[in-house]
Amino acid sequence: MYPENNRRIRSSPILRNLTKEVTLDTSKLIQPLFVVEGIQNREIIPGLTGVYRDTPETLLKQVEHDIEKGVKSFLLFGVPLAKGDKEFDYSFTSNQIAALKKRFGSDIFVAVDVCLCSYTTHGHCGILNDSMDHVMNHESVTALADAALAYAKAGADCVAPSDMMDHRIAAIREILDENKLHQTLIMSYSAKFHSGFYGPFRVAADSAPKGEMKIKDRGTYQIDPANPSDAYLSSVRDMEEGADILMVKPGLPYLDVLKELSSQIPLPWAVYEVSGEFAAIELMAEKGLIDAKRAHLESWTAFFRAGAKMVITYGARSAQEWMK
Ligand code: PBG
Repeated sequence: MYPENNRRIRSSPILRNLTKEVTLDTSKLIQPLFVVEGIQNREIIPGLTGVYRDTPETLLKQVEHDIEKGVKSFLLFGVPLAKGDKEFDYSFTSNQIAALKKRFGSDIFVAVDVCLCSYTTHGHCGILNDSMDHVMNHESVTALADAALAYAKAGADCVAPSDMMDHRIAAIREILDENKLHQTLIMSYSAKFHSGFYGPFRVAADSAPKGEMKIKDRGTYQIDPANPSDAYLSSVRDMEEGADILMVKPGLPYLDVLKELSSQIPLPWAVYEVSGEFAAIELMAEKGLIDAKRAHLESWTAFFRAGAKMVITYGARSAQEWMK
């Protein structure tokens, strides 16, 4: 019953292409962008080769360049200069969204990360109580919904809450509907784990928890790596609350979760190849231990094999070159 000769099917590149079950395609990749207030020149991000903390000016040039490289989809992170505790000003990020949409219109799809970690003095993803030992859910969700509304009004095609508070999807859908923003998508980071792989990002987004607090990490709101059932329950809830796209994050360490959830919950699934995963490949390649291009393509293939419909990756803008 088994073919007695499995190598026959592997014997030439033409045959291997004919029999491929997964084909990589740049139109399935989403490029993250960081835009930072108050810097004069754009800055490199350690570990994330080819990715920058852009100024508003360099952001537009970068996106123009990315479009030439076949990238059409972006995930924007705005990093404002002023940090707060309870009140936040979303205008810097909103202005960058408006500038992108004014310049590029419907040539690009702009998703915007919705979180407070780049806005708070302490770096947590929500608002702390006075004794600074708890992230308050209701107050945080109210602020997140305001942020999402500001971004949607500025022209974001999609808002992507990454904070992991309870019921933020319902609150965001409600405020968008009240404001007749019925076409704005919500991509929920529904299965976002409390991961050690976010290191390079926290430099990029200026968002590591810092200062004198009793809660030093994000364990009280992000999902425990050992609890895939929590990821399932959070994702079902976010679907019921009105999310259009769900997400698993990080990628490679959670392929089992991606495979399981994407087969059980019939919404389009994104996966986020996070900063630490991407940087691991780049740093190994720098040491001459692996071929970066090959390892990146292999990782993306694994995501699509496991059921992803789209991949958020720092390498989207290099994909065309790597796939040649
Ligand atoms: C903000 C946020 C994080 C990432 C995306 N949105 C960091 C975190 O939760 O600490 C991580 C992205 C990456 O590592 O590439 N909440």
